[in-house]
Amino acid sequence: MENKLLTIKNTALSLIIDVPSLKELEEIKVQFLGRNGSLAAAMKEMAKLPAEKKPEAGRVANEVKGIIQDAIKTKETELQKNRAQSYTPLDVTEPGVRPELGHLHLITQAIREITQIFEGIGFTRVRYPEISWDWYNFTALNFPENHPARDDLETFYIAGDSHKEKGRPMLNVHTSTGQVQHMEQMKPPFKMLNIAKVYRRQIDVSHTPVFHQFETLVVGEKISIAHLKGVLEYFVKSYFGEDRKARIRPYDFRFTEPSFETDVSCAVCKGTGELSKSEKCRLCKEGWLELGGAGMVHPNVLRAGGIDPEKYTGFASGWGVERVLMMKDGIKIDDLRMLYGNDLDFLQQF
Ligand code: PHE
Repeated sequence: MENKLLTIKNTALSLIIDVPSLKELEEIKVQFLGRNGSLAAAMKEMAKLPAEKKPEAGRVANEVKGIIQDAIKTKETELQKNRAQSYTPLDVTEPGVRPELGHLHLITQAIREITQIFEGIGFTRVRYPEISWDWYNFTALNFPENHPARDDLETFYIAGDSHKEKGRPMLNVHTSTGQVQHMEQMKPPFKMLNIAKVYRRQIDVSHTPVFHQFETLVVGEKISIAHLKGVLEYFVKSYFGEDRKARIRPYDFRFTEPSFETDVSCAVCKGTGELSKSEKCRLCKEGWLELGGAGMVHPNVLRAGGIDPEKYTGFASGWGVERVLMMKDGIKIDDLRMLYGNDLDFLQQF
């Protein structure tokens, strides 16, 4: 008896597995579980069994019934799902789901804009490796041996052997590192724009360990401060707007002589330093915002790059990409670290 029941179970299951449609599944159901089906027939035979065998046979019969019912149920759901999928009509007039489009990061946008501005007056954009040696960062730029900028506290030196002539390897601390590398590649006259990441050991609301600078270097015959001022003026008007003004103030850098700090008039107080008679501007110092350094290339630097300072002169400037971005009218970034935070709510505003 038990054998008979097991055969019914196995036959039913093997049929159910391959059944292609709901209609045929229904037929299988009738064939095995129906009133005149094979299970019912087996039950009838069971009535003839001796009394002591009945309970066990009954238990097996119920178990087989349950298994076949479950298998039919599972198959039914599967076939219903397939049918739903294959019959979903395609409505070509329904609006599509637009994939979300990202945009260039704020810094990348600024780098592109700055590049375009300088290319417009004949500058060539270049790049040099982000890792170089003490020589290009400091020595070739006229820094004395014990200058504080060389301090480990300010600079990321990296593990590795020192170069025989160029000294310790390090992450570039400024884009001025590209000055002498460029002189080694190019004969004057040239107008170079070097935009790159630079690294310093610093972090607070207005400083990050990695940031970007853009550096100009112009070398040729009779290049003067007037050229520097002209380029500064042109950049400030192009990037910040016609109503902004530029100025230079004396400063001190090792690699330029004379050296300047360059400033842009403040957009908030329009260069006046005050919002009203009684209220001072909170963004700037007396109407001006500091843009960064500049100056006439020091003769020692030209010499380090193999250029004759008797014949050629040049100017250089080095300004921060994040800095100009924050000084641009309409862009309010209170904490520089937001730029690198990957916070979409912030980034999607731009
Ligand atoms: N390298 C200087 C800095 O990082 C800026 C600078 C560049 C100054 C070129 C003068 C000339 O502060």
